[in-house]
Amino acid sequence: MDRNNIYHGDCVDKLKEIEDGSIDLIYFDPPFYTQKKHSLSTRDNSKKYEFEDSWDSLDQYLNLIESCLIECRRVLKSTGSVFLHCDKTASHYIRVLLDKIFGIKNFRSEIIWSYKRWSNSKKGLLNAHQNIYFYSKSTNFKFNVVYTDYAPSTNVDQILQDRERTKNGKSVYKKDKNGNVVLGKEKKGVPLSDIWDIPYLNPKAKERVGYPTQKPVLLLKQVLKIASDEGDVILDPFCGSGTTCVAAKSMNRDFIGIDKSLDAVALSNRRLKEMIITESALLKKGTESYIEKSGFELALIKSIDAIPVQRNNGIDGFLRSHFDNKPVPVKIQSKEETLEDAIEKLERACKNKGYSLKILIQTKKEIGNSRLFKINSDIEIIKANQLAIEELKKEISKTYKAQP
Ligand SMILES: C[S@@+](CC[C@H](N)C(=O)[O-])C[C@H]1O[C@@H](n2cnc3c(N)ncnc32)[C@H](O)[C@@H]1O
Repeated sequence: MDRNNIYHGDCVDKLKEIEDGSIDLIYFDPPFYTQKKHSLSTRDNSKKYEFEDSWDSLDQYLNLIESCLIECRRVLKSTGSVFLHCDKTASHYIRVLLDKIFGIKNFRSEIIWSYKRWSNSKKGLLNAHQNIYFYSKSTNFKFNVVYTDYAPSTNVDQILQDRERTKNGKSVYKKDKNGNVVLGKEKKGVPLSDIWDIPYLNPKAKERVGYPTQKPVLLLKQVLKIASDEGDVILDPFCGSGTTCVAAKSMNRDFIGIDKSLDAVALSNRRLKEMIITESALLKKGTESYIEKSGFELALIKSIDAIPVQRNNGIDGFLRSHFDNKPVPVKIQSKEETLEDAIEKLERACKNKGYSLKILIQTKKEIGNSRLFKINSDIEIIKANQLAIEELKKEISKTYKAQP
């Protein structure tokens, strides 16, 4: 089978055409046994993509996974690995199959792909992860250590000092004969863990092609980084929109993709011609950088039982409870804003949304001649406690002064 091609057909049949021991890494993201058809349309609604995930029985589903795994093991080089992407629906059965075919001793990791999700609350915990099982063909498997940054709470100064155990087994800082601490070897960071925080593709991401359950290229790049090198051959027997192949091509690896849907094959080929990979601003800057609100603002928002929102110029939060069956946006007047500026910003952010109640929290006294009364706005203004107390004090001291 030629490299750098996407093949159409059932993966078990197609895998049989691949030579023994010729593949370095296999990633596959099969249907998850959701017992439904997955469908999604492109952003301009010009094309609908679908794949079927309904089965007569769990056995029928597991038969496909097992047959595929048997072929995958055969085509892998002895240094190769398989990464099987699944979720809570059938992960426990799949892990047993992996143990059976690859051997318990070749289990390397269960990677938890964790992401943030917005969802309406339903009874039970919000599902915010999927599982990727990493098994190697032998214990002599290819692996590249990847380092990540230390957590902000880590005392790096301490990490740089060597430690040793006392006779009682207690871990202490190592000291030289003069009593000075011994500095350890250069530290490159923390080795990548098995929990990967990689954002789901957002609905507006350019990388999104409208294929149901499309995975982010960034996720695949991380898989490829740890278990393959440039020039290696990567195989995806359930390639869907071709995400694995795009990641492989962008990292100078060869690839083979297989899918039983003709639409998926055509889409993968198109994506490979014009590769669009969305960088995650969240990963680049870190989650903390998205928290723009000051402690004062967060406290104000929480004091009125609202949920803060980040990265919105005109709205700082929404009340937890709706009014008139609609969300209630809240804005806090910032230090730089006049009351009028704040009203205008909130009005702009709420334009065409049809909210029945909009709240502005006034944080400072209006100075000078306010044009406030000229603004046609139905925003309700409430005073921040701090401002209300200041005004109260002034009012009371005026009364004192007025007394004879
Ligand atoms: C979850 S999707 C893969 C999504 C892909 N990872 C992506 O990022 O776009 C599963 C894919 O498996 C394909 N598929 C299902 N059964 C198959 C089989 N027996 N042989 C080959 N492909 C199959 C479906 O057509 C679908 O495209």
